[in-house]
Amino acid sequence: MTHVDQLISNAPRLRDDGCIAWPEGPTKPVLTASAIHIWCARLDTVSQQLDGSNALLSRDELRCAGSYHSDLHRSRFVAARSMLRQLLSIYSGIEARALRFHYGKYGKPSLADPDPSLKLEFNLAHSNGFALYAFSLNQPLGIDLERIQAIPDLMDIASHFFSKAENVKLGRLDPIQRQQRFFQYWARREAVGKCVGEGLTESGLKTGVSSAHVEDLFPLSGYAAALATSNSQATLNQWGYHLP
Ligand SMILES: CC(C)(COP(=O)(O)OP(=O)(O)OC[C@H]1O[C@@H](n2cnc3c(N)ncnc32)[C@H](O)[C@@H]1OP(=O)(O)O)[C@@H](O)C(=O)NCCC(=O)NCCS
Repeated sequence: MTHVDQLISNAPRLRDDGCIAWPEGPTKPVLTASAIHIWCARLDTVSQQLDGSNALLSRDELRCAGSYHSDLHRSRFVAARSMLRQLLSIYSGIEARALRFHYGKYGKPSLADPDPSLKLEFNLAHSNGFALYAFSLNQPLGIDLERIQAIPDLMDIASHFFSKAENVKLGRLDPIQRQQRFFQYWARREAVGKCVGEGLTESGLKTGVSSAHVEDLFPLSGYAAALATSNSQATLNQWGYHLP
């Protein structure tokens, strides 16, 4: 291999929107206190690898999966939960099917039997066949993923929920950029709401005020994503799992 070939093969892969494509993740990631690990997975590929198996899921999760009318949505739910269990198993050392979840007042999942020496924190989001996961030690997290799409009354929604400054910025953009920015603002707020465990509340959406540190993420072309955490110094590791 020539020096030039080596430079090309080591260069980060660029997506068609010019962003750096997230590389495939390691099989044995090691999480440290100063890091946050973020994974983005294509759920239909996870589903194919599971080969129709629901074996990792609890009875409650299977009941939830059974409530989906569409096969596609059911298999994506199973894939998202199976992938969550597999990743949590790697980080916690607990067998994937043995993991139990506790749910907060507004539905935020956490580990029911956490290892006090590890304090593993996680959160996830899914949209249109992709799932985004965040893991850390000791730092509560919120993550969101939104597919960017046309909304006819975008500026009305923005004027209701976003700040004056955000509305001014949106108003100055061309329609395509406005759509992208709208979903970025939305993802930031949802990530903050999920970090504190409340999800999206009318007041949280309106104020957007929080002590959480918010980072925009760019896992996929055509999607907006954000991470909220209390640790502004954390190193972010971002990995893909069979992304386009
Ligand atoms: C949390 C919430 C923002 C999720 O919105 P969404 O766009 O539908 O879904 P996302 O893809 O962003 O996230 C879904 C994941 O967030 C997690 N989650 C659910 N509730 C959460 C909460 N309150 N805080 C943080 N994370 C939460 C779950 O892991 C869920 O994945 P699952 O389907 O595997 O269980 C929304 O459900 C909400 O606002 N909930 C709180 C409000 C409430 O009280 N709802 C009634 C519940 S009975």
